[in-house]
This record gives sequence, structure tokens and C-alpha cells, in this order.
Amino acid sequence: MAVSSAPGKVYLFGEHAVVYGEPAVPCAIELRARVDVEQRTDSKLRVHAEDLSLDGFTVEYAGEPEGRPDVDVSESLLNAAMGYVDSAIEQVRDVTGEDDVGFDVTIESDIPLGAGLGSSAAVAVAAIDAGTRELGTTLEIDELAERAYRTEHEVQGGQASRADTFCSATGGAVRVEGDDCRSLEAPELPIVIGFDGGAGDTGELVAGVRDLREEYEFAADTVEAIGDIVRRGEDALAAGDIEELGRLMNFNHGLLSALGVSSRTLDSMVWAARDAGALGAKLTGAGGGGCIVGLDDTNETETALSYTLGCEDAFRAELAETGVERLE
Ligand code: MEV
Repeated sequence: MAVSSAPGKVYLFGEHAVVYGEPAVPCAIELRARVDVEQRTDSKLRVHAEDLSLDGFTVEYAGEPEGRPDVDVSESLLNAAMGYVDSAIEQVRDVTGEDDVGFDVTIESDIPLGAGLGSSAAVAVAAIDAGTRELGTTLEIDELAERAYRTEHEVQGGQASRADTFCSATGGAVRVEGDDCRSLEAPELPIVIGFDGGAGDTGELVAGVRDLREEYEFAADTVEAIGDIVRRGEDALAAGDIEELGRLMNFNHGLLSALGVSSRTLDSMVWAARDAGALGAKLTGAGGGGCIVGLDDTNETETALSYTLGCEDAFRAELAETGVERLE
């Protein structure tokens, strides 16, 4: 058996726009998905997943739809999660040339599913890493990130960036622009997360932005303006100017809202954070529901979020310095 874990992430800046070649800056955070992979004697794939949402649930999935029990999570989310595992295992088969190999895969995750914290990228990275090592191949980090990106690209209907998967594979703060992926120096950031208990469908949200961008020139301009914010944000990050980072995050949230990917609860959590004195707050990830990220070095934002209607959980997150971890 091989066991790997990989971290989730928050976007300081640039989600959605990164799909169109603008830069983005995600940061890995200390919430992890751990994946155990064991080779089977037949060619079946059996997946056992626990705690893919903060509420926690258990799924036994034997590769057939009827193998899935009733669980308290939407069928489309469950399909998406299992799609990432299927696709990650296809990458393992492809990279090792072992086309008919079967696996038992067990997933444990602290990262809520589809909530903007990079659960799918973390599962893809950890599953490909553990699966290839189970067959005696250890991938370089860049190759692992590239293979995990192909998983997301396939499951998101052919539109994905390398940002989530590169960040999860390497850890730390990263900058991604097209296929140029690199690590960044980052100061310690006082990250607070608010979670509304919901989730968004990344594929659908990405398609919504694509349609808007094709229909309206000013939507395309909005995507470019997000790119400008990211470039300013990089300078603020390099200078350790957390106040400027916060201001730029507020701008970024406004533009994401204009692109239609925020929601009532995400907006109210963002406003609760700002009212409580956060230096900045924005949705993180694909949007539609899920999480916001704020910067605040006091406890005020966390406390205010815990009293905000629609916020189910508020917590601090530490930057994850390491990406994939090879545990066994
Ligand atoms: C999702 O976490 C981030 C998006 O930019 C999609 C992607 O980059 O693949 C919305």
C-alpha cells in the first residue's frame, strides 16, 4: 500500500481569470486530503471515501452507480468527486503503462467538497502520487502536477488552469500563468475562512464565465482587470504589504461578483468580514457557494462570521509549506 496526502488552497487572487491565461496566486493551506492506494489482483477500482465534506459522510463506490449508497450530498457533487478519482487512476495507468491494473482507494479529507478550498486538486494529486508509487514509480513534482492538471481538465469539461493542482503538489504560495507555474515567497498571512456549508459546480461556473466573456466585451475586460489586480497583488505580497493585499482582494471579489460567480451567502460573509475589520475578503475558488477567505490578525472576523446568517463554520488556516507528502 502507498499513502500520500496533499493540501487544499485558497486563492488570494485570480480564480476564473487564470483559465483565460491571466496570472493567479493561490496559497496552500493546512487542510489535507489523504489517499491510500493498494493494488488489487483484478482490474476493478474500489473507492472508499470519508469526510469529503465538513459534515462527514461515507461512500462505498465500486465503480458502478448502483454501488453508491444514499448520502447527504448532491448526486452531481458525488459524481464529480468520483470522476476525479477515476480520472486520476487513468493517469496512474497511463504513466506506468499498466492498463489493466485495479486498486482499492481510500480517501480521508479535511477539505469540504466543491467549496473553493481545492478538494478535487488535493485528491487528484494525492491519488496519482500514491497510485504511481504503489506500482514502483515516483514522479517528479512537476510531472505529478501536470498529471493532476490533466485530471481536472478532463473532469471540468476541457477548461481548467494548472493553478489548483500545481499549488497542491508544491505547497506554499504559487503564481500560475498559462503553463508557467512557480513558487513565490510569501509573508505569514493571517488567513480566516468562512464556510457556508454549500458548494459550487466548478465545471458549470467556469462555463458560465466563458459564456459571459463571449457575449459581452466588458466581461472579457473584467477578466483582464482581474489579471491587473493579480500583478499588483504580487508586488504587495513581495513587499509584505498586507493592507494593500486586503484592498486588492476586495477589488477582486467585486469583479468576481460582476462575473456572476458569487452568491448571497458568500457576499454576506465577505461583508461580515469587512465590517469586523478584516483587511480584505473575497470568495475563493470557483464560487457559487462554499468559502470566503479574509485577512485579519485579530479574532474579530472569525467571531463575526460565526454569528453571520448563512455561515456554518469559521476558522483560521495556516499556510501549508509542503505540498504532497509521501506517508507510506
Ligand atoms: C477553481 O478552484 C479555480 C477556477 O479558476 C478553475 C480553474 O482554475 O481550473 C475557477
